[in-house]
This record gives sequence, structure tokens and C-alpha cells, in this order.
Amino acid sequence: MSKRINAIDLNVYYGDFLAVEGVNIDIEPRSVTAFIGPSGCGKTTFLRTLNRMHEVLPGARVEGQLLLDDDNIYDTAVDPVTVRSMVGMVFQRPNPFPTMSIRDNVLAGYKLNGTRLSRSQSDQVVEEALKGANLWNEVKDRLDKPGSGLSGGQQQRLCIARTIAVKPDVILMDEPCSALDPISTLAIEDLINELKDTYTVVIVTHNMQQAARVSEKTAFFNIAGTGKPGKLIEYDETTKIFSNPSKKDTENYVSGRFG
Ligand SMILES: Nc1ncnc2c1ncn2[C@@H]1O[C@H](COP(=O)(O)OP(=O)(O)OP(=O)(O)O)[C@@H](O)[C@H]1O
Ligand SMILES: [Mg+2]
Repeated sequence: MSKRINAIDLNVYYGDFLAVEGVNIDIEPRSVTAFIGPSGCGKTTFLRTLNRMHEVLPGARVEGQLLLDDDNIYDTAVDPVTVRSMVGMVFQRPNPFPTMSIRDNVLAGYKLNGTRLSRSQSDQVVEEALKGANLWNEVKDRLDKPGSGLSGGQQQRLCIARTIAVKPDVILMDEPCSALDPISTLAIEDLINELKDTYTVVIVTHNMQQAARVSEKTAFFNIAGTGKPGKLIEYDETTKIFSNPSKKDTENYVSGRFG
């Protein structure tokens, strides 16, 4: 279920613009890894290469290798749709399909990839995914109501349920709590802590406390200046990154002495 992610010399372009350069990183299965760094350093860009979402933009491309366990997801024989079913993504703003019911939102991944489920199979998928996202008790009596009728924090957990419903190996989260209140944020953080028993979780966050609370490893990205590529500066145990980083730039960033 949970897969290792290994990027080798990864360069990420938007047309001629090299946005992220030379990333080498090895992310353990069944762990939470945080990506931190200043705005524009390429956290989202790099994250989106991990499930081949980057290349959906015209002119966007990737060089290098990205291994999921031992398979290069950028191999020409690999279908990006398959990659996206193995590597799920949760976005900054909760984005349930507004007119779809809660139930159909959870099943959306199956509809998209054309898998037919019997009623009892789909009931089971819905219940398991909502329980996995810690949302079942709050919604079990209104599964046929629209997803948009939930609070922001509930909607984000619904999006997590939708992601885990298709049983991915990896879950990517891009600032999943930035639109949420502190209570919902804690609920998502608790959930991330549980998800790591089953999945490889990668989370982008601007919240240092959050990175320190939820992740085992932290990757610090930075840019040398406007127009320059973002780079992975330091990647280590989260406790080390926040208490005793090896690089001066990391120390300046995590201690708030930046720019
Ligand atoms: N669609 C795009 N086309 C061209 N350049 C882009 C595009 N999206 C992002 N970029 C550029 O790529 C670089 C990295 O952007 P990215 O969004 O990955 O940064 P980030 O670290 O996620 O920032 P933030 O913390 O603000 O979300 C920036 O210079 C940005 O302007
Ligand atoms: Mg971003």
C-alpha cells in the first residue's frame, strides 16, 4: 500500500523557466514528510510532479527520475492516470464537487476511472473511507445531502475521504489546513498522524508548528532570488531541522530571521 518516493536529479520547468532544480530526495513509506520554504520556492510545483499533475499545464515538463518503489513514474510506458490513482492529492481549499452528494463525492474516484461497484461494495467503500477520514459519525445520517453543505473542515475531511477511497499508496497535501480554523486544523493533523500508518504522506505547510507536530522528516526548499530556480536545501529529521539544522539558510528560515 505505502510506497517509497525517490526523486533523482529532478528538474521542473514551466516552458523555458526552470522552476525547481536538481531535487534528490528519498521519502520513506509509512511516514509524514513536510515541505517548507518561502513563497515561490517551488513546493507546490515539486509536489505536483509526484503524481504527474505538473505536466497537465501546457509547456510544463519534468527531467530526471521519480521512482515509486522501483518504478519510474516518468517512464514512457507509464500511464499518468494510473499514477494519479496511486498518488492522491488534497488541495489548499477543500474542493468537493458541490452538487454531488457526500456519498458520490467519496465515490468520485471510482466514477472517474470507470470502475463499477455494486451497491454493497460502494456502501462499504463509503463507510471505510469516511471512517478513515474521521468524518463518518458526523455525516452517516446525511450521505445523500450535497457535499457543499458541510463546514470547511468537514469538506476537507471529505476530500481526504475521496482521496483514500481509491486506496492510493501516497497522499500529497498542499497546505491542507490553510483555509481552516484551529479546531479543524487539529482534526486534520490528528488524521494525518493516523494516515501515516497506511500511506506515505507528504504535506506542504507554511506553519512551522504544524510541520513540527505532524512530520518525521522535513524538506526545506529555497530560492536564491526572483527568476532563479527553487532548490532543496536541506532534508533531515524534523527535530534536527527545527533545533539544529546543518545549513545557515535553514536556520534563518525556521527561526524567522528570513530575508
Ligand atoms: N502555471 C505556472 N506557470 C508559470 N510559472 C509558474 C506557474 N505556477 C508557478 N509558477 C512559478 O514557479 C515558481 C514556484 O511556484 P510554486 O507555486 O511552486 O511555489 P510555492 O513554493 O508553492 O509557493 P507558495 O508558498 O506561495 O505556495 C514561482 O516562480 C512561480 O511563479
Ligand atoms: Mg504553493
